[in-house]
Amino acid sequence: DIKRDFEGKKVLVTAGPTREPLDPVRYLTNHSSGKMGYEIAKALVERGAEVILVSGPTYIEAPKNVTFIPVEMAMEMYNAVMMHLEEVDIVIGSAAVSDYRPKEIQKEKIKKDDQELTIQLVKNPDIMYEVGKRKQNRISVGFAAETTNLIEYATKKLKEKNMDLIVANDVSQEGAGFGVDTNIIKIIDKNQNIKEYPLMSKSQAAHVILDEIAKLF
Ligand code: C5P
Repeated sequence: DIKRDFEGKKVLVTAGPTREPLDPVRYLTNHSSGKMGYEIAKALVERGAEVILVSGPTYIEAPKNVTFIPVEMAMEMYNAVMMHLEEVDIVIGSAAVSDYRPKEIQKEKIKKDDQELTIQLVKNPDIMYEVGKRKQNRISVGFAAETTNLIEYATKKLKEKNMDLIVANDVSQEGAGFGVDTNIIKIIDKNQNIKEYPLMSKSQAAHVILDEIAKLF
């Protein structure tokens, strides 16, 4: 029996990687599968929320009964989030947003020529930072995937991005990396309370994360 504790809540979830084009055939991206964010979206629907899922390119099917907004570039994800921010009660940022994008997108395919090729990159907006800046009463939850100093870095991000909770996972641990169906998470709140959980499925992890969010209502 699933509790409908998110009934009446509108939630925006970002998920997946972003894709930053270099030319008409190439792009920069990362290993994010989107699984964690999609499981969160699914769990939210089960628990009664109205869900907007803003997703970068993934190989998984969009969950049923969500407003699905597919995007590619970080700039597109940023615009989609900003467009819907005012109408939502909660933002959950699980996307692995590319920190940089090529300064110019070449109109024609880049030809191999010299021994070296330099590509200039410029910074993308930090979507969750911008969400935190416009916070009001909205609940903001982020993720921190780290390979070292997990708690320290995650706590720093929680503060800098004005989040209520941050879900930290050590991506160097087996069963917690990219693309797998499991995760090992720690949830940190504003008062630096840290909750540690054992290895579990991403679906179970999604429900555990929602349990902690629901306590903030
Ligand atoms: O600083 P870092 O990228 O590790 O922070 C991760 C958190 O910030 C995640 O919640 C991620 O979705 C969000 N983020 C973002 N926009 C960026 C970079 C990260 O929303 N450009």
